[in-house]
Amino acid sequence: MILAIILIGLIVTLILVFLIGNNNERYWKKRGVKFHTKNKVTGVFWNFLTQKGALFEHFGMLYNEYKNEPAVGIGSVVTPALFVIHPKNVQHVLQGDFNAFNHRGIEGVEGDTLAENLLFLNGSKWKVVRQNMSPLFTANKLKSMFYIIDKCAQDLVIYLKDNSQKWEGGCFDTLMTYCNAAVCGSIFGINSESIFDSPFLQVAKDITAPSFKNNFRFAMMNLSPKICRIFGIKFFKEHEEFLIDAITKVIQQREKENVKKHDFADICVHIQKNGVMKDSATGYQVEPSYGLLTAQAVFFLIAGVEPVAIAIFATLMELGRNPEILAKVHQEIDEQFEKHEGKITYDVISEMKYLHKILSEALRKNPPIGTISRQCVRDTVLPVGNIKVEKGTKTFSPVYHIHNDPRVYPSPEIFDPERFAKDSKQREEFYMPFGMGNRMCIGARYAKLQMAAGVVHVLRHFTVKTKELGPPQYKHHFIQVRPLNVDVQFIPRNVK
Ligand code: HEM
Repeated sequence: MILAIILIGLIVTLILVFLIGNNNERYWKKRGVKFHTKNKVTGVFWNFLTQKGALFEHFGMLYNEYKNEPAVGIGSVVTPALFVIHPKNVQHVLQGDFNAFNHRGIEGVEGDTLAENLLFLNGSKWKVVRQNMSPLFTANKLKSMFYIIDKCAQDLVIYLKDNSQKWEGGCFDTLMTYCNAAVCGSIFGINSESIFDSPFLQVAKDITAPSFKNNFRFAMMNLSPKICRIFGIKFFKEHEEFLIDAITKVIQQREKENVKKHDFADICVHIQKNGVMKDSATGYQVEPSYGLLTAQAVFFLIAGVEPVAIAIFATLMELGRNPEILAKVHQEIDEQFEKHEGKITYDVISEMKYLHKILSEALRKNPPIGTISRQCVRDTVLPVGNIKVEKGTKTFSPVYHIHNDPRVYPSPEIFDPERFAKDSKQREEFYMPFGMGNRMCIGARYAKLQMAAGVVHVLRHFTVKTKELGPPQYKHHFIQVRPLNVDVQFIPRNVK
């Protein structure tokens, strides 16, 4: 009997796979768009779940196969999905046609409180929360938080000097710890005695760990939000209680102390005093519950730790491979340290022109986020290929592969900071390490500041050497581009 049920289940599944797959193929063919016929139902997500490699690498295989197409249809169960290839189409989706593409393409299920963060939110709620969180990232706010980031970068140098065993083999973890301290200090006002002793670091690591469970949840969220809702698949549930409790305490403490630190907790106190978050244009209101505020804080924590650590690692890795460029940036850093007697301020960092070219080029060649998703909310047309896109269609845009396409950046494998020189003719038009348009990364300027502070202090006291440990590989991750098989070694410099 059981065998018969299994057999019937199997046959029904096979028929469904056949019918859905053929339907997906017909859908795109009818619109004159090529369809990727391998895994017609689950597209690249199946390969990602069952094989090695980061998700962006699986999309990369499609990019290489269809690089002359404006876009290619892919399986995403019953939702039409497009892998957008031509950079002009990518720009249209991310930036040009916000009215049609303002949805992220993922959303949390009911009761997944921490999924109510800016990345997952959509529509009116996203707009109000984004408006209310933006003041945290203005140039003035960043300037007033800089001393905290700078202190963490100095602690990082002390830590490295005291722990010579970390000079080889542990670069990435050390950078993650610095990023965690900087984010906790500057955004949440949480300062632990030692920057290397924080319960938040483990949580940030756990939430984005590329475990099968996390990868599966992410794939399901992309493939079928309906299935996620039916089975109540939640992304952040495990850490909800600890995090809401911790952030609530931070906000309540700040309210009691009645001091201004210009950080996230200040903004939360201000928002809660106002009673509601309101969109002045539409009157739409959202209650700033501790859960909703914690959701923002947690996402800032996730974004400020691993992606920024990847960006710093990539910068050091490229410098370690390019001794001439390293010598030039060392010179700029040394000059500034000497000129300002070792006191590096926000203004001093902002003036380091060569450093900023290096950071931009590191993010060009190694964008920490490889692919960006959106969902169409009203019928529209992509300009290249005149592709009709219906409401509901999901899109995936290949940041990594556009940044490394010789048609966009000549000789993309060469690390050349001069691409970002003021008079450079190279196109910044399709530069998108932080995305593009109204849903662009809210923390982009903050992230670059944290990168800059870390790089400047480390390079003042150390030089770096890159050790290739085998053929290039990337961590099996759903959004990140984290290089494996490569290490950065720290070698002390003889400076004060
Ligand atoms: C080097 C580090 C970082 C990189 C490469 C990065 C990259 C990105 C990218 C590619 C997106 C999607 C943009 C789009 O859809 O067009 C994004 C969104 C976002 N990022 Fe970042 N990010 C970084 C650091 C940060 C930090 C430090 C924060 C906050 C403290 C942050 C907060 C956010 C938020 C809230 C969103 C969602 C924005 C929205 O949908 O409105 N990110 N980031």
